Amino acid sequence: MNLRSIELALPGAAEAHRWMIDVWGAADGGHIGDTWYLRGSGTFPYLVAISENAEQFVRSTTFVCSPERLQGVARAAEARGLNAAPCVSSDPGGGTGIVVELAEGELLRFLTGATEVAPIDTHAKASRKVMPVKLTHVVFNSADAEASGDLAEAVLDFRVSDRTKGMVFVRCNTSHHSTAFARAGFSSLNHVAFEMDDLDAVMRGIGNMRDHGFTPAWGPGRHGPGDNVYAYYIAPFGPVIEYSTAVEKVAEDYAAGAPDDWTWPEKRIDQWGVSDKDLAGLRVAEEAFRFRREWTPAPLNLPVGA
Ligand SMILES: [Fe+2]
Repeated sequence: MNLRSIELALPGAAEAHRWMIDVWGAADGGHIGDTWYLRGSGTFPYLVAISENAEQFVRSTTFVCSPERLQGVARAAEARGLNAAPCVSSDPGGGTGIVVELAEGELLRFLTGATEVAPIDTHAKASRKVMPVKLTHVVFNSADAEASGDLAEAVLDFRVSDRTKGMVFVRCNTSHHSTAFARAGFSSLNHVAFEMDDLDAVMRGIGNMRDHGFTPAWGPGRHGPGDNVYAYYIAPFGPVIEYSTAVEKVAEDYAAGAPDDWTWPEKRIDQWGVSDKDLAGLRVAEEAFRFRREWTPAPLNLPVGA
């Protein structure tokens, strides 16, 4: 199971797409109709889809997996009575699968058979200073993050990696987290994190953003849980986006930490102790993208005996 992409809707999609290429460093993934795609240097055909809409919302967050894993999620979603439906992707890479609405409205899509593309050799392109590889996590705000983590374990067969005062971190493979649920008191998109090649690429990303007049809303720093380096920004078209790298790989028997295992000395909010956080600005951006279900729940048509 791998996190692949997020699908957003917002006004000014073409402008947002352009900004993500010219400033953030994403590569052009083309467009189909009024949906614009951004890719990274990795093999996924796109990481972010931006559809033109009068309002801004999250359409889905997409994972790719094996047919067997897909069947497992479908069975568990039906058993729980969650809103779900079969789907055929019309995005680059195609694929078939299911869409599932979690308890707080989070819309997750699981695809199998989606195709990939040739990677972009960023090291050979000296003129290209910054390009994300792929998404490394998509984090949601939750009214009840603990229940959301439990549901992700029960239905998606994900595993809670760590719990902190602020978050429930959840993994779907050996990466410490591919998603997390923030203890926010409301449900929305918290942020989208792009995986960079290494620490140097994160720092060059920060420099590139600085050249364009943007300073981090939080960072740079190194998180406790997951051990990843981060720099968060509020994109001019709304969402919180992050350069990240070096998330910890964990074993199947990784012992989930509790909030008391993850505390900081006074005035510190990360391992390095060098970063400030624009809490108010981040909160406004985090509340901006809610979830909107554009499909009608339907039986998942599981094979007989599944
Ligand atoms: Fe993050």
